[in-house]
Amino acid sequence: MKAAKVTNPATLESLKIVDLDDPGAPAAGEIRVRLHASSLNFHDYSVVSGRLPTADGRIPMADGAGVVEAVGAGVTEFSEGDRVVSTFFPTWLDGTPAISDFSTTPGDGIDGYAREWVVRPTSYFTHAPKGYSHAEAATLTTAALTAWRALVVNGGIKAGESVLVLGTGGVSIFALQLAKAMGATVIATSSSDEKLERVRALGADHTINYKTTPEWGDAVRDLTDGRGVDHVVEVGGPGTLPQSINAVTIGGHIALIGVLTGAGGEVPTALLMRGQARLQGLVVGNRRMQQDLVRALGATGIRPVIDRSFPLDQIANAFRHEESGQHFGKIVLEW
Ligand SMILES: NC(=O)c1ccc[n+]([C@@H]2O[C@H](COP(=O)([O-])OP(=O)(O)OC[C@H]3O[C@@H](n4cnc5c(N)ncnc54)[C@H](OP(=O)(O)O)[C@@H]3O)[C@@H](O)[C@H]2O)c1
Repeated sequence: MKAAKVTNPATLESLKIVDLDDPGAPAAGEIRVRLHASSLNFHDYSVVSGRLPTADGRIPMADGAGVVEAVGAGVTEFSEGDRVVSTFFPTWLDGTPAISDFSTTPGDGIDGYAREWVVRPTSYFTHAPKGYSHAEAATLTTAALTAWRALVVNGGIKAGESVLVLGTGGVSIFALQLAKAMGATVIATSSSDEKLERVRALGADHTINYKTTPEWGDAVRDLTDGRGVDHVVEVGGPGTLPQSINAVTIGGHIALIGVLTGAGGEVPTALLMRGQARLQGLVVGNRRMQQDLVRALGATGIRPVIDRSFPLDQIANAFRHEESGQHFGKIVLEW
């Protein structure tokens, strides 16, 4: 079977398509999946660009969607022909966080889904939303589930609340769509006025260009009559957190998700404390959350925003496109 592989040290130049043995038939409790799509995340980029070193020979990509081709003995949750999507933490099934590293994450600690077939225990997949293409389903594992957990599971979002989303990448666009579906007011930022027009078309109520308005925390306060927002989906990290803390309302929730501007820095702790805001680090979510997300997507009719699709053998160019920052929403691979 065809698969993409990174070497150690990994670079986009050394990300190549290789021929591997077919994984064979599923054993008891396993399913065999014919994969058809994946989607790119910053985490995958960190693996394929060598920022997150892996052992030599890793198959990248945490997100994978396809069709169940065969089920092993005792499997009742899935049948042949079911459309499925992968889980980010295949062993964290439910409840409070059970893991603080990426040792079990496909495409990082273990081989991922840039390949034609895989055989895995059932917990490595959930059903995909009905009517979704494989490419659409493949966007859920990392980006959509993170946005869902930030706003719904941990944020406890309610109709009438306000949400701030930063930039127009995969997580933020899902957060915008979910927040609107939940009846919230959304403020979105971007470095590009053209992208801000596109987020307005997706339902954003207010927009701010964070390049031309570097003190965008104040702008968010102005837009909320001085109150600040109830939820911030914080994908920037140290370069954006001080503004996010300024932007959040008293007792509001900041889901600390991303590292787009780096992995360490100064935090205005006194401001955070005075505002009695909740600053919560989170990494994607568990399998139960993904099942709830799939159901919610079916009920709301949300469809992922796909920026561009690349064939599997163009995986390095797909990451170069992500690197360029030109994208809006999700970049996918299809095969
Ligand atoms: N903790 C988790 O569970 C989790 C899960 C998924 C992702 N993440 C992290 O979340 C971050 C976003 O991931 P993603 O997959 O959505 O990335 P992505 O699709 O590559 O998003 C990139 C976009 O972020 C925006 N951006 C970049 N710098 C920014 C800044 N200083 N302020 C505001 N926006 C900025 C840009 O939007 P514009 O072009 O509109 O300016 C850019 O296009 C990454 O750091 C990723 O590692 C964490």
